[in-house]
Amino acid sequence: MKSWITLLLLLATSSQTYAALENRTCKSCHPVIFAEYQNSIHSKSSVYKDVVHKAVWDKHPAKAKGDYKCAKCHTPSDHDVMRGKSKLTDNEIQRTEPISCQQCHKIESVEKHTKANKNILTAKPKTFFSADKALKGTKVEFKEESSFFGMLKTKSGSPYHDIDYSNEGYYNGDSCMGCHSHKQNAKGFTVCDLEVKQGDSKESCISCHLPQVQGSLANQKESATHAFHGQSIHNSTPALLSKYIKLSMQENAKGFDIFIKNEATHTLFPQPLRLNQLRVSIERDGKSINLKTESFTRVIGTDGKPSMPWLADAIISDTTIKALETRVVKYKESLKKGDAIVVKFGYYVVNPKTAKKLEITDRSVTEFIVLSKKRFEIK
Ligand code: HEC
Ligand code: HEC
Ligand code: HEC
Ligand code: HEC
Ligand code: HEC
Repeated sequence: MKSWITLLLLLATSSQTYAALENRTCKSCHPVIFAEYQNSIHSKSSVYKDVVHKAVWDKHPAKAKGDYKCAKCHTPSDHDVMRGKSKLTDNEIQRTEPISCQQCHKIESVEKHTKANKNILTAKPKTFFSADKALKGTKVEFKEESSFFGMLKTKSGSPYHDIDYSNEGYYNGDSCMGCHSHKQNAKGFTVCDLEVKQGDSKESCISCHLPQVQGSLANQKESATHAFHGQSIHNSTPALLSKYIKLSMQENAKGFDIFIKNEATHTLFPQPLRLNQLRVSIERDGKSINLKTESFTRVIGTDGKPSMPWLADAIISDTTIKALETRVVKYKESLKKGDAIVVKFGYYVVNPKTAKKLEITDRSVTEFIVLSKKRFEIK
C-alpha cells in the first residue's frame, strides 16, 4: 500500500510541467520595474510566500478537497492550476510570479459578476496595454525600418512587443477591478468590498498606487520616471500613501476633535482581517498620557459572533472609514497651554486576536504600522 502511494506521488511530481517563467523576458529590458515588482505583494500572493494567505487557506474547508479556487486572483499565472491540469504545488511560478507582468498587462476588459468579477485577457500575442496620456488611443507596433539599402535603421516602439494605449482601464484603474472589486463566499455573503466611489476625486487606483517615481521605464528608452510597481501594505507603501490621509485637530469647550480625512476613493482596510486604529496621546510636563484608542473595523460573523470568512453570513459591526469620508473622533480631555497632541493613524495587517486564532506569529503582520502621524502644539 505504502509503495503505491509513493509511486503515485512520484508520478504526480514527475508529470508536473513547469512552464517558462513569463517575467524573465521582461527583466532584461525593464530592470527597474522588475526589481520593484519583487517587493510587491503581487509577486508574493501565493500560499508559499504570503503567510497570511497561507494561514487562512490552511483552515479553509476547500483545502481538504484540494480545490484552490483562490487561484483566479492570487495565482492566475500558474496556468496548470488555473486550467485544472494540476493541483496546487510549490513551484517557481507560485514563488516568484503568481500574478505575472503579463497577467496585468493583457487585461482587455473586466466582466461584472455578483460573486466576483472576471478578467478577460486579450488573445493577441505579445500585445500589452499601458497608459500614456500623450499617446492615448494609439497602438504602437514595433517597427524596424531600413533605408539606403539597410545602411540606416530607425526603431520605434518596443523591440519585443506591441503596446496598446487605447484601453481606458489602464487610465482610470478599471483593470484592477477584476480582482479588487468584491468577493462573496459560498453562502453568497460579501466577505470583502472596496466600495469604490469616485466622487469629485481626480485620483485613480493608478495615480495613487502606481505613482510616477524616478528611474527609466525601459533600457532602450530613457525616461526620467516610471510607474511604481512595488505596491504592498505589508512593507514599502505607507510612505507613498500617507499623504492621502489628512489629520487635523480642533479644540472646543469640552475637549478636542480629531478629523481623519480619507482621500482614497475606497473604504480603508475593508479586508476583514485588518484592524485600523487611531492612537492619541498628550505630552504634558515631560510625560506622555495615552488617551482611548479608536478602532475602525469590519467584523463579520455567524449567529451574532465573529467567525472565519468562509463561515460568515452577516456583518456584526462596521466602523471602517468609507471612500472620501471625513471621520471625527471626539476626546473629552481639556487641554493646557504647552501641551502637545500626538496623533497616529495606522493598522495591523492582521487583527492580533485573529492572528492568535490563525496561529500567525510573523512580526511583519502582527505589528502596528503607522500610516499617518501628526503633532499639534497647544499655544
Ligand atoms: C527587448 C526589450 C523588451 C522586452 C523583452 C520587453 N519590453 Fe516592454 N518595452 C520595451 C521598450 C523599449 C518600451 C518603450 C516603447 C516606447 O515607449 O515606444 C517598452 C514598453 C512597455 C510598456 C508600455 C510602456 C509605456 O510607455 O506605457 C509595457 C506595459 C511593457 N513594455 C511591458 C512589458 C512586459 C510585460 C514585458 C515582458 C513580457 C516586456 N515589456 C518585455 C522593451 C522591452
Ligand atoms: C476575486 C478575487 C479573489 C479571490 C477569488 C480570492 N481572493 Fe483573497 N484577496 C484578493 C485581493 C484583491 C486581496 C487584497 C485585498 C486587500 O488587501 O484589500 C486579497 C487578500 C486576501 C487575504 C489577505 C492577505 C494578506 O496578506 O493580508 C487573504 C487571507 C485572502 N485573500 C485569502 C483568500 C483565500 C483563502 C481565497 C480562496 C479561498 C481567496 N482569498 C480568494 C482577491 C481574491
Ligand atoms: C490578477 C488579480 C489582480 C489584479 C489584476 C490586481 N491585483 Fe492588486 N492584489 C491582488 C491580490 C490577490 C492581492 C493580495 C495578495 C495577498 O495579500 O496575498 C493584491 C494586493 C494589492 C495591494 C496591497 C494590499 C496588500 O494587502 O498588501 C494593492 C495596493 C493592490 N493590490 C493594488 C492593485 C492595483 C492598483 C491594481 C491595478 C493596477 C491591481 N492591484 C491589480 C490581485 C490583483
Ligand atoms: C487618493 C488615493 C487613492 C486612490 C484613488 C485609491 N487608493 Fe487604494 N489606498 C489608498 C490609501 C491611502 C490606502 C491605505 C494605506 C495603506 O495601504 O497602507 C489604500 C489601500 C489600498 C489597498 C489595501 C487595503 C488593505 O487593507 O489591504 C488596496 C488593495 C487598494 N488600496 C486598492 C485600490 C484600488 C483597486 C483602487 C482603485 C479603485 C484604489 N486603491 C484607489 C489610497 C488610494
Ligand atoms: C498589478 C498589475 C500590474 C503588474 C503585476 C505589472 N504591471 Fe506594469 N503597469 C500596470 C499599470 C496599470 C500600468 C499603467 C500605469 C501608467 O502608465 O500610468 C503599468 C505600467 C507599466 C509600464 C509603463 C511605465 C510608465 O511609467 O508608463 C511598464 C514598462 C510596465 N508596466 C512593465 C511591467 C513589468 C515589466 C511588470 C512585471 C515585472 C509589470 N509591469 C507588472 C499594472 C501592472
